[in-house]
Amino acid sequence: MTSVPQDGQINNWLNWSAAELSLTLEDNTQEAEWLLSSLLNCTKSELYIQKNELTKQQSELFQHWISNRVNGLPAQYITGWTEFYGRRFNVNTSVLIPRPETERLVDVAIHSFQELDNPQIVDIGTGSGCIAISVAAEISNATVLGLDISEDALAIAEENASINNVDDVKFLLTDFLKFNPPEPIYDGLLMNPPYIPEKEMSTLTIEIRDNEP
Ligand SMILES: C[S@@+](CC[C@H](N)C(=O)[O-])C[C@H]1O[C@@H](n2cnc3c(N)ncnc32)[C@H](O)[C@@H]1O
Repeated sequence: MTSVPQDGQINNWLNWSAAELSLTLEDNTQEAEWLLSSLLNCTKSELYIQKNELTKQQSELFQHWISNRVNGLPAQYITGWTEFYGRRFNVNTSVLIPRPETERLVDVAIHSFQELDNPQIVDIGTGSGCIAISVAAEISNATVLGLDISEDALAIAEENASINNVDDVKFLLTDFLKFNPPEPIYDGLLMNPPYIPEKEMSTLTIEIRDNEP
């Protein structure tokens, strides 16, 4: 076990955190860089040219982050954000962490709807709003309605629309199984539904099973 750095030097904190994370992770160096750059609000490469040192408060917070990560909390829930389709999305444990493979769904939606005049689109089970917001941002004349059964998820989705300055997206708290669409009739439905069958729950990594909704 590497001892906790006694100074604020970034290099020392990188080495220490990579060693701690190696107890449970294979890509420990990358994760250490991602967490520390997020904490210091800089890029990974800037970490190596930073002259500044971690303050006492930052080092305490970083130790807490590393401990959470070693215990299986996904890095995105620790930093509170991730990237999806080139934009920043805030996340917490009320929402699924947007997955890179879901970007393909956004590609397909753009391809399918961009030629329509003012397409009206519904995103069922919007979660963080990653699909709804990306589609509304990428198709300039589209209007997207994101539905979710979780009030906490919708609070994050609203926040994400706001930080990305996307206005053509609205959110509605509803169970889609009981959803009676108001006018207008929609041109398209998008959905990345809860997709893990109950019987496969025990096969998931602890990181996903114990943390994601
Ligand atoms: C797999 S997540 C997808 C989240 C997001 N669309 C994404 O791709 O990252 C499914 C979402 O569906 C929501 N959900 C589950 N059952 C629902 C229902 N009956 N009506 C509306 N939303 C529901 C959950 O709250 C969750 O946010």
